[in-house]
Amino acid sequence: MKPVKVGLLGLGTVGTGVVRIVEGNQEDLSSQVGSPILIERIAVKNTEKPREIEVDPSKITDDPWEVIRDPEIDVIVEVMGGIAGTKEYILEALERGKHIVTANKDLMALHGSEILAKAQEKQCDVFYEASVAGGIPIIRTLIEGFSSDKIMKIMGIVNGTTNYILSKMSQEGASYLDVLKEAQELGYAESDPTSDVEGLDAARKMAILGTLGFRTNVELSDVSVSGISGVSKEDIAFAKRLGYEMKLLGIAERQDEEFSISVQPTMIRASHPIASVNGVYNAVYVYGQAVGETMFYGAGAGAMPTATSIVADLVAVIKNLKLGVNGLKQIVPYKQKKLKSDEDIFYKNFLLLHVDDKAGVLAKITQVFAEYDVSLDSVVQQANTNNPDAEIIIVTHNASKASMNKVMRHLEQLNVIHRIKSHYRVEG
Ligand code: HSE
Repeated sequence: MKPVKVGLLGLGTVGTGVVRIVEGNQEDLSSQVGSPILIERIAVKNTEKPREIEVDPSKITDDPWEVIRDPEIDVIVEVMGGIAGTKEYILEALERGKHIVTANKDLMALHGSEILAKAQEKQCDVFYEASVAGGIPIIRTLIEGFSSDKIMKIMGIVNGTTNYILSKMSQEGASYLDVLKEAQELGYAESDPTSDVEGLDAARKMAILGTLGFRTNVELSDVSVSGISGVSKEDIAFAKRLGYEMKLLGIAERQDEEFSISVQPTMIRASHPIASVNGVYNAVYVYGQAVGETMFYGAGAGAMPTATSIVADLVAVIKNLKLGVNGLKQIVPYKQKKLKSDEDIFYKNFLLLHVDDKAGVLAKITQVFAEYDVSLDSVVQQANTNNPDAEIIIVTHNASKASMNKVMRHLEQLNVIHRIKSHYRVEG
């Protein structure tokens, strides 16, 4: 049987995992697709670099265009990362009728609609399962598993680095900076951790999940983002005392046909299944109108989990190739985009305030909430052993984001409040 020929762009940890799975599981894979799968060419940055796996040197090039232009190659697997240059390679490969498997969330979040439109024009597949939550088959699940349902909510822990940091802070009472340093030493966090800790990586993944879940074109700029660099060990201790865990949650919610999407450190009720997802693991909780609650858990990164998703995509492309149906299963968003305004986004809030410890202060503060019609769930005051301030912890009932913005602006003007120490979204 004629082999299906694959061009690999990138041979780093994930690319190495792809070669290992394709070669190691060849018998099983070729039985599934009906022909051998051959990694024909590999583009790398440095051809001299020593590799963990043995690769025939004649397959290796440092020019990705050689791979893209090779007429023998049917499918391009892109694991080199990057945005502008990589987009050019992928668009040119599609122009030449090659199918694409990519792990590139940055590219898909920023240019997914252009790439998918080109794929449709050329009747090619573009699969990107590994771009969100590495080894968890969440993209296929949203496209196929939920095709009969209406997804109302997606909550994701889709960034392993921040989940590792917050889990350690919660379990060991450690500070953000200490755990970040440890995560960098262990290789979990990058030397420049900005994209992970400030929520950008998670926002890109949530834009992809939102697009698929709500079948509308969710762009990165639709996602409101805040990261974990301001989360203190005291915040986490308060969260635990109130029965919550702190997680960097991506939350995409739909009501009628309008949706909101955000990434922020969130206090989630400890009994919620996603609250117990710790360490570098990822999880995606999906609430479907008909099915109710579901949750998908697993490794969000790492060579072999990510490679598993990539090779599964490769199998899907080749099965389509055999059936002659490539390019027919793309989800091109078909719903008009309707973003909720801040008046229509509701959630509970946690606030920690440092205030004067004297008569009438609490009344002045609660008056502000009443003025903007924000109802309170609980108010607790405690003495602070480190300074003469009192600490006031306030948890609201569901309140609109717009009302809470007004409350926050007003609280900032109150001179009895020395500091608004923390403000978090509360779920569950
Ligand atoms: N930097 C990501 C994370 C892994 O920490 O989850 C790749 O998406």
